[in-house]
Parts: sequence; structure tokens; C-alpha cells
Amino acid sequence: MDAKTNTKTAQLTIGDKNWSLPVYPGTIGPDVIDIGKLYSQTGMFTYDPGFTSTGSCESKITFIDGDEGVLLYRGYPIEQLAEHGDFLETCYLLLYGELPTAAQKADFDYRVTRHTMVHEQMMRFFQGFRRDAHPMAVMVASVGALSAFYHDSTDISDPHQRMVASMRMIAKLPTISAMAFKYSIGQPFVYPKNDLDYASNFLRMCFAVPCEEYKVNPVLSTAMDRIFILHADHEQNASTSTVRLAGSSGANPFACIAAGIACLWGPAHGGANEAALKMLTEIGKPERIPEFVARAKDPNDSFRLMGFGHRVYKHYDPRAKIMQRTCHEVLKEMNIKDDLLDVAVELERIALHDEYFIEKKLYPNVDYYSGITLRAMGFPTTMFTVLFALARTVGWIAQWKEMIEDPHQKIGRPRQLYTGATRRDYMPITRRK
Ligand code: SDX
Repeated sequence: MDAKTNTKTAQLTIGDKNWSLPVYPGTIGPDVIDIGKLYSQTGMFTYDPGFTSTGSCESKITFIDGDEGVLLYRGYPIEQLAEHGDFLETCYLLLYGELPTAAQKADFDYRVTRHTMVHEQMMRFFQGFRRDAHPMAVMVASVGALSAFYHDSTDISDPHQRMVASMRMIAKLPTISAMAFKYSIGQPFVYPKNDLDYASNFLRMCFAVPCEEYKVNPVLSTAMDRIFILHADHEQNASTSTVRLAGSSGANPFACIAAGIACLWGPAHGGANEAALKMLTEIGKPERIPEFVARAKDPNDSFRLMGFGHRVYKHYDPRAKIMQRTCHEVLKEMNIKDDLLDVAVELERIALHDEYFIEKKLYPNVDYYSGITLRAMGFPTTMFTVLFALARTVGWIAQWKEMIEDPHQKIGRPRQLYTGATRRDYMPITRRK
């Protein structure tokens, strides 16, 4: 990492003692206060459950401005990348920091395409799951199991092995995701085809059957590719922080990405697209929206409007606007009149005018429209977070790579505020009441 320059300091006064803490500026976004020596100087820890005000690392990959609704991948606005590029171009950008030249793009596409097959024995690995296993459970297990099949790319100290492991995961996640889907519906696995682009290859592996030729619908492959771009990375979110923490112990990259998939599964995070569609289905029709809005506002009801709100975006999630447009394109192409879209649009309209949601700064996030779109494309609800994990794998790898290559990185090991029992002696069971 570049040497941090601090021109400012923060003053901390506790009782009659005063400390100066270095302040570092970012190229954009908030400055940070370096508290790395706080404990050794003051004997105190900071306290920030949920890390609402804590910067865990220095990064050059993704920048989010929650107030302005800005999302930049290596400085490029998400709107422009989604409009003009494709997902593998975004993968190259996130991994290497610059948009590829035509020659670099061709080479990168070639290398990814030729890593898309998985070890044939993984087929048997799948057979161990019940057919009704949630595809995310299959993903966590299968990606973790890659370290059992690809020993030659688990030495994280070797840059070549790090690169091979990265390419393997970017290339194989679509194949594994499609296998999880096919296994869940009892259809045969479909091998990747090297003459298809990334998104088209994935759609074919999901929806082709041996009995007939599968023709990729370009509207759907474009939508799929754009959805992958929107989900590729997102700064230090929960699953990315999980990958960084796992990687800081020196765990192999496959295990770190499997940990990220496990974290993403939660309904507060990547599981929200599945939860949002279930919520819209439960609401069922616009007339029932007020009942659910009232529940979301009721402090005694744990119900939340899934697909709304975000830790960082406090005006709107720029991905949600692109997702909404993509949703309309797919529904039009598939000639689907989905009542849930009517519910979603009406719920968004009501929420955006309701004092509670305005005051709490709750707006649709990327997960709000993705569920309706993916269902229209033919994916079952249980596959929604799988697609999120597929796309986010490149972001996790880019962040993991940045951490591994940081000469100052050390194992992550937070401390705590202890409020448990003070020291006490063991009580024999005969004397316990
Ligand atoms: C993703 O981090 C990332 O970048 C994640 C992500 C990525 O790309 O990696 O963007 C992907 O995970 C998007 C978020 C998907 N999750 C959901 O849609 C689930 C529903 N949303 C909430 O669970 C919630 O909004 C979070 C988890 C997303 C954010 O929670 P925060 O920032 O911790 O905020 P909070 O829970 O403290 O809520 C602030 C207030 C609370 O009220 P008070 O306690 O202050 O009275 O807003 C309320 C909450 O009750 N609130 C909601 C709400 N979300 C927050 N009320 C109703 N419905 C909601 N959805």
C-alpha cells in the first residue's frame, strides 16, 4: 500500500491526558483516523459493533458515496460500465485496476473460457446432496471443495498460483452454479461451450436440455451480463469483509470464497433478493401494501421491507435504477405481465412518500427488482443468491488479492468490550444450588 500521508491530526482527551492521532485523507470520500496505536497508548479499545464508523482497510478497488448514490469500480461509474462494457471487462478492471486493451481483453476472455470445466469427479460430489438441498448450501460446499481438487493453486505466497486460483474461480462459478440448479431440478448437467460468451454460456448450462438445441436469447444474455456487472463488487460489505478476514489467516483462496458465499446467504445481505420476492409474493396485490408498510414501521414487529434500506446508500442505490430498467426489458422480451411488478412499483411509490421511510432514508436497493427479473428469466427463487455469489466472486477475489499483496497486512483480530463475570473459583457440583 502507498505510504499514508497525514497532514492533519485528531485530538483525543481522556481526563487530563491528551493524544494526537494521525488523520489520513482518501483520494475521495471520508478521511480516516488511525487508531492502530490507541490501545498501546491509552489502554483502551474503540467500540463499534457492526463497524458503522470503522474503516477496516485501505483499498483502491470500489468507492461508494451513500449520500450521492455513487458507485465506482476503479473510478468508473457503475452506470457507464453496465451500459458500455461486459462482465469479463469488469472482472479485468476489478482485478488489475485498468480497463483492458483489445488484446488484453481477448487474452483474458480466452483464459477464463478455458477454465470453465470442473473436475469430472465433482459430478459425484453433487450426487451426495438431497435433490431439495438449497443451492446455496451446495455452492458453499462445492466452492470449498475446489481446494480438494486443485491443490496446484492453493499456495497463496506464489503469485502464479494466486492468479490461477482466481481465474479458476471466475471461470468455474457459473459451471458450479448451473450444476447446482440442474441437480435441484433433476436434469443432466450441461457442459460449458467455448464458443459462447460468459453470460450466454451460463444461461445455456442452466436452461439447455439434451433433447433439443438451446438458442440463447440476446436480450436475456445482455440482461444477465449486466446483472453480473451490478453485483461484481461493493467495497467492504459483510461478505467481502468475511473473505478478507479469512484470507488474513493465510487460508487458501477457495476456502475464503466459500466463507464469503456463506456470509452472503443471509437475508440481511445477499439473501435479500430471495427474501424480497417472497415478501412481494406474500403481499400479493397492491391493496395489501398498507398492511405490510404498517408492520415495517411497527417497532414491536421484526418485519422489514426486504429489498429496502442499505448501510451505506441513504438516498438511492444506483444499481437499483439499472436493475429496474433491466426488469422492464426482460418482462417485455418474455411477454410477461407479472402482478408482482405492479406490487413492487406501487410499494416503492408508497414507501418513497412515507415519512417513516424518508426519515430512515430507506430506498430500494439492488435486491428489490432483481428477484422479479430473475424469476422472469426462468430462475427459481432459491437460485437468486447463487447468481449474486457468482457475480460477487470476482469482487471477493480482487479484494482478497489486494489484501494478500499488501506488505503491511496482518491477521485480523478484533478485540471486545467484556461485560461478563469477573474471576471466580470452580464450584463442585455437590455445592451448586
Ligand atoms: C445488500 O453492504 C453492502 O454493500 C451490501 C450489498 C452488497 O452489494 O454487498 O449492497 C447487498 O446486502 C443490500 C441490502 C439487502 N438487505 C435487505 O434488503 C434487507 C432489508 N434491509 C435491512 O435489513 C437493512 O436496511 C440493512 C441490513 C440493509 C441495513 O441495515 P443498517 O444499516 O444496519 O440499518 P439499521 O438496521 O440500523 O436500520 C436503521 C433503521 C432502523 O430503525 P431504528 O432502529 O433506527 O428505529 O431503519 C429501519 C430499522 O428498523 N430499517 C427498516 C429497514 N431497514 C432498516 N425498516 C423497515 N424495512 C427495512 N428494510
